[in-house]
Amino acid sequence: MKIVITKDHKESCRKAADIIIDVVNSNPNATLGLATGGTAEQVYDELTESFKQKKVSFKNVKTINLDEYVGLSPDHEQSYQYFMNKFLFSRVDIDKNNTFVPAGNKNPEEELIAFQTMLNQHPRDFQLLGIGVNGHIAFNEPAGELRTKAHIVDISQSTITANARYFDKREDVPKQAFTQGMGDVFSAKKIVLLASGAEKADAVKALILGDIVNTWKPCSFLKLHSDLTVFIDQELADLIGYEQV
Ligand code: GLP
Repeated sequence: MKIVITKDHKESCRKAADIIIDVVNSNPNATLGLATGGTAEQVYDELTESFKQKKVSFKNVKTINLDEYVGLSPDHEQSYQYFMNKFLFSRVDIDKNNTFVPAGNKNPEEELIAFQTMLNQHPRDFQLLGIGVNGHIAFNEPAGELRTKAHIVDISQSTITANARYFDKREDVPKQAFTQGMGDVFSAKKIVLLASGAEKADAVKALILGDIVNTWKPCSFLKLHSDLTVFIDQELADLIGYEQV
C-alpha cells in the first residue's frame, strides 16, 4: 500500500484523476471501476477539466460502478446513476452504452445477476474508492463475515445516518443497496482510495495503521491488495497521527 499525504482534498482528487488519465491513455479501451459520494465529486471535476483540455478521451472506455441504492430510479437525484450522469457521463465523450450502474428500479434479483455478469465479463483495470465512516467499502458493511461477490445488502444504521446528509429526511435514505463484493473490488488491477474529513479518521486508521484485517472494518482488507494508493490530506493525517515515512 502506498500512502500519499496531500496539501488538501483538491490535490488528492487531482492526483487521483492523473492516475486515471494515465490508465486511460496507456489503454484507451480500459475498464474503470467508479465510485460515487462527496469524496469522489472533485475527481470527476478534474477529469472533466482534463477532457476539455484534450488531455484524455473516454470514447472507448468502459465503466462499472461500485454500488447503487435499491428502490431509487436512475433519475432520482440521490441515485448513483444520477450522480454519475451529472458529474461525469454528461460532461465527457464517454458512450453511455459502455457504462454500467445497477438500476435501482428494476427487479432486484434480475438486476443483481446483470451486475455480477458485467463484473465477470469486464475485469477492472482500475478502481476508484471512497470509504464509509464505519469503514465500509462500496456497501460492504461491517459484519461478522464479508461477501466476495455482488449482492444486495441491508444498509447499516450508521451508514444511513452518514448518508442522510444527502437526503431531505433520514427516513428517505433507502434501506438496501446493490454492492460489488469484496472479491469484485479486489479483482481490480489498480486501486486508488481517497479520504478526507474528521469523520473518516477511525476508518482510515484501520486501513493505514497496524497490520490487522477485520471484517468489522471492511476497509482493512485493502491492506492485502498489491497495487493500492491511498490519498489523505494533511489535516486527516495529523488527526490520526500518521507521518509520511
Ligand atoms: C457511500 C458509498 C460508498 C462511498 C462512501 C463514502 O455510502 N456506498 O461507495 O465511498 O459511502 O461516501 P462519501 O464520500 O459521500 O463520504
